[in-house]
Amino acid sequence: MSEVTIIDHPLVQHKLSLMRKKETSCNQFRDLLKEVSTLLAYEVTRDFPLHYEEIETPLQGMKAPFIKGKDIVLISILRAGNGILDGMLQLIPSARVGHIGLYRDPETLAAIEYYFKMPPEVKGKDFIVVDPMLATGHSSSAALHRLKKVQPKSVKFVCLLAAPEGIRELQERHPDVSIYTAAIDEKLNEHSYILPGLGDAGDRIYRTK
Ligand code: URA
Repeated sequence: MSEVTIIDHPLVQHKLSLMRKKETSCNQFRDLLKEVSTLLAYEVTRDFPLHYEEIETPLQGMKAPFIKGKDIVLISILRAGNGILDGMLQLIPSARVGHIGLYRDPETLAAIEYYFKMPPEVKGKDFIVVDPMLATGHSSSAALHRLKKVQPKSVKFVCLLAAPEGIRELQERHPDVSIYTAAIDEKLNEHSYILPGLGDAGDRIYRTK
């Protein structure tokens, strides 16, 4: 079963609480999401391997550790995933970036892919898939299914908030994908919104409501 890591650092929890408040403005929400995302990036890359390169300090030579940013592919599930992507890129600027967009067919409820753009040669790389809200898990699960077709070395899923239903769905369908979240909330409402949640993440990032 996939591992679930709750990033309960006080700074993450504090910023998440500010994001939940309904009076938090769109600008503040975006800034907070960016800040939290750098902290999530810090946790999700914790076990990434280092390689050593010979460098010169002002005093002497040494073998210094570096992360292989180019082996990391950050993948945003459109559109709210872009809010996390920005913060993560700030911390890992050399990471490659991909995007995937899906919508739910209202009749069949099947997830239909409308956008899929990956950088070249992603096979064998470490994927970090980002979407702020893991609600039912249906679209995230479909996105992971599609992404695995390009044969990544590893896949991690990062969200800000998760519902127990979404965690169960991913664990069932993608036991090999570890999940990182700042919190697991109570449940979904009848419209599949997370409770207590923070509302529609995309609308709050882009002021579309
Ligand atoms: N997507 C959101 O943006 N918010 C939710 O609560 C659930 C899904």
